[in-house]
Amino acid sequence: MNEIVLSGIRSTGNLHLGNYLGAVQNFVKMQHAGNCYFFIADYHSLTTHPTPEDHHKSVKQVLVEYLAAGIDPEISTLYIQSDVPEISELFLLLNMNAYLGELERTTSFKDKARKQPENVNAGLLTYPVLMAADILIHHADKVPVGKDQEQNLEMARKFARRYNNMYGVDYFKEPVAYNFDKELIKIPGLDGTGKMGKSEGNGIFLADDEKTIRKKIMRAVTDSGPTIENSKMSESVNNLFTILKIVSSADTVEFFTGKYKTCEIRYGDLKKQLAEDVIKIIAPINSRIKDIYSNDEYLSRVARMGAEKARTSAAKTLKEVREIIGIRKFY
Ligand code: TYM
Repeated sequence: MNEIVLSGIRSTGNLHLGNYLGAVQNFVKMQHAGNCYFFIADYHSLTTHPTPEDHHKSVKQVLVEYLAAGIDPEISTLYIQSDVPEISELFLLLNMNAYLGELERTTSFKDKARKQPENVNAGLLTYPVLMAADILIHHADKVPVGKDQEQNLEMARKFARRYNNMYGVDYFKEPVAYNFDKELIKIPGLDGTGKMGKSEGNGIFLADDEKTIRKKIMRAVTDSGPTIENSKMSESVNNLFTILKIVSSADTVEFFTGKYKTCEIRYGDLKKQLAEDVIKIIAPINSRIKDIYSNDEYLSRVARMGAEKARTSAAKTLKEVREIIGIRKFY
């Protein structure tokens, strides 16, 4: 039987290069091989309380960008989380076996609680349970994600195992975080520290035009340059090399690594090359975004088709899960 591949992205603003390289691109490469599900995690994005207008706009934008990035809705099941109510019910059932202590200890919860102390809601706490429901509802084997999602995948495996043990069944599979051709990756931001994120203001977006991309990369934080041969790179310069290694050819990487080692590197040249290689990836996607965005009829067809396909699979799982738990009808 074909493996089941599933991934998703929160609908909080435009997709950035990290989302694309960490998750979407992997998915696009895999979609012809298996039984693939890709969705927009719009419930997850409610933890930050967007306005109704912003919320809807973000969902549309992400749907458009998925399509522009090459997800084929005829081959994959492309859907919006809130169109599949079975996910919410599985979430409720899994919550009964998720414990406060383990949820409080997750890194992403601690991070969020620190970043938004005025809004530490229960949705943030149970975020990994909803994510497990997303994954387990379709019995996913592989979940293409970036490195930051590793812990959430570990939690999904834990909840799957716990359900199986609790009811003495071998029902849920244990999904793994996956990258198509290498290790899970973390694309750093352009501000010298931390990962590229939607809200950090350090990102390159699929919706950015060439000029914007060049400007952003030329302004990326660096240092004053190496003065001792073979010296260790600062975090900001190392970050640029991390992106270079993913988007550029081996020759290019070797060239600039050599120049760094011998202290001959000019960061301006490195950035120019990096910008061109990033543009090569983003420009074809970018050029499709506008057309798809204005085609409401197509988007509506895609969303309806995805919801129908996803609900068929989800309803089957939910029926079996309820039966195993002992939720049986009297009528
Ligand atoms: P989100 O929306 O934060 O990110 C979506 C995907 O992009 C990856 N990613 C990155 N990869 C590399 N470098 C980066 N700087 C970077 N930033 C983001 C993430 O690892 C992710 O794969 N909780 C998830 C959404 C979700 C989900 C799921 C994913 C909900 N349910 C079920 C997979 C399966 C999230 O917030 O991702």
